[in-house]
Amino acid sequence: MNNRKVFLVGDGRVGSTFANDLLQNVKISELVICDVAKELTVGDAMDLEDLAPFVGPVKVVSGDYSDASDADIAVITAGVARKPGMTRLDLVNANVKILKSIVKPIVDSGFKGIFVVSANPVDILTTLTQKLSGFPKNRVIGTGTSLDTARLRVALAKKTGANIDNVDAYVLGEHGDTSFENFDEAIIDHKALRSYSELSDDVLTEIETDVRKKGGKIIANKGATFYGVAMCLTQICKAIFENKARVLPVSAPLTGEYGVKDLYLGTPSVITANGISDVIELHLSKEEKEKMTYSAEKMKEVLDGIEL
Ligand code: LAC
Repeated sequence: MNNRKVFLVGDGRVGSTFANDLLQNVKISELVICDVAKELTVGDAMDLEDLAPFVGPVKVVSGDYSDASDADIAVITAGVARKPGMTRLDLVNANVKILKSIVKPIVDSGFKGIFVVSANPVDILTTLTQKLSGFPKNRVIGTGTSLDTARLRVALAKKTGANIDNVDAYVLGEHGDTSFENFDEAIIDHKALRSYSELSDDVLTEIETDVRKKGGKIIANKGATFYGVAMCLTQICKAIFENKARVLPVSAPLTGEYGVKDLYLGTPSVITANGISDVIELHLSKEEKEKMTYSAEKMKEVLDGIEL
């Protein structure tokens, strides 16, 4: 196997769950875990290396930014997490500050790989990671609406009884309060979602609201969400290493798609060893197009208020 090295910044609940998922789902040769909580990373690396007899040879160590130099992927989960009642955008000031302290030392290490970001607000932080790093846009990816899309597929499978593998539907836009679904294009069991009588407009509106609020509900119940987003990160890393042009809903650099520019937002994209090799622009209804524009405007408002 070629050397496959992942550098992880942020060993909180998302980071450590991702580390575990990554080792169990993707063949890599080395994982370096970096966090201001150094002891935690030492403990986690020792705990995680014990997976090797079950998942195959892999080196797991605690490290610092210089270890990013020869990594293929730098995953950023570090940041303050939402508390009950908070929106993702409430985190922006604290997490931009943290992001600035992370991106520069990674770039200074000589890192030439691909950034994958999940810290919130993820579309803003992904846009800023590209700006701060000066990396080509295709080499910076955010988890975006991958988690919202997973939540939508869970909800649609539950409602229709379909096998979740046959639910093809996307959430687009911000990973946050302005996200939206494009139900017109969605397919369930090879049939148009719109042909399902149990999926009336009212039911779909309810599903859309529930999907949007699910993260907040999980936080209200257990204090944090991490299993879902950790698996989204894992799938992005897997798609990069496998290099099979897999299509995933991610926070992707829009350069005119949907009439939006200079911003990362959630849309399906083709993922290869080179990062985002293609941003897919889905067909949107007039109303959905307006929702995308609104999502982009909200993100731009927030970005305009940030001094780098
Ligand atoms: C959520 C967090 C990851 O939606 O934003 O669960």
